[in-house]
Amino acid sequence: MTRLGILISGRGSNFEAIADNIAGGELDAEIAVVISNRSEAPGLEAARRRALPAVCIPSKGLDREVYDRMVVEELRWRGVELVCLAGFMRLLSATFVRAFPNRILNIHPSLLPAFPGLDAQHQALEHGVRVTGCTVHFVDEYLDAGPILIQAPVPVRDTDTVETLSARILKEEHRIYSEALRIAIGGNYRIEGRRVILG
Ligand code: GAR
Repeated sequence: MTRLGILISGRGSNFEAIADNIAGGELDAEIAVVISNRSEAPGLEAARRRALPAVCIPSKGLDREVYDRMVVEELRWRGVELVCLAGFMRLLSATFVRAFPNRILNIHPSLLPAFPGLDAQHQALEHGVRVTGCTVHFVDEYLDAGPILIQAPVPVRDTDTVETLSARILKEEHRIYSEALRIAIGGNYRIEGRRVILG
């Protein structure tokens, strides 16, 4: 069974959706460890409640390379084969990316390459787009870049606030992250340049 390492910084609802799908037998994987760079991340508590290994590696004040080496060491020690960034609000160094080539996934709350970075839902509302959504992509050393595995569109309503829009996007995030994991685990794809070709 594929061993997942999940990296979070906060709430951890994407992590919980993955954990639920595993528990429900819909995803053939096991969570080897949940790592947070913030000790106060509610997702860490959620992992402990589920009796999953939950580790805090605080990033504050540490050089990126030094920090990433610590995280890679923990992931290796836990036998992690596939890394899932789930609201992990840090850019990964080349050292980290090279340690798990094409084996790191990220979820982002927009249809990339639109609205990378922070507050993607706010950016979408400000821009006035009619459709936004979410993306699961392989991670490279650039921000919210890397070959795209799955996207889901979410219409923007005239009455939307950041909260209402984020909630509808989040529902889709929870669905597509596990779908993307199924593909990444199954291995029935190839990467050609920026394109992920399925089947
Ligand atoms: C999610 O909306 C995720 O897409 C976003 O942070 C939230 C984390 O929620 N990630 C990014 O913006 C990454 N650039 P969660 O902790 O409940 O999964």
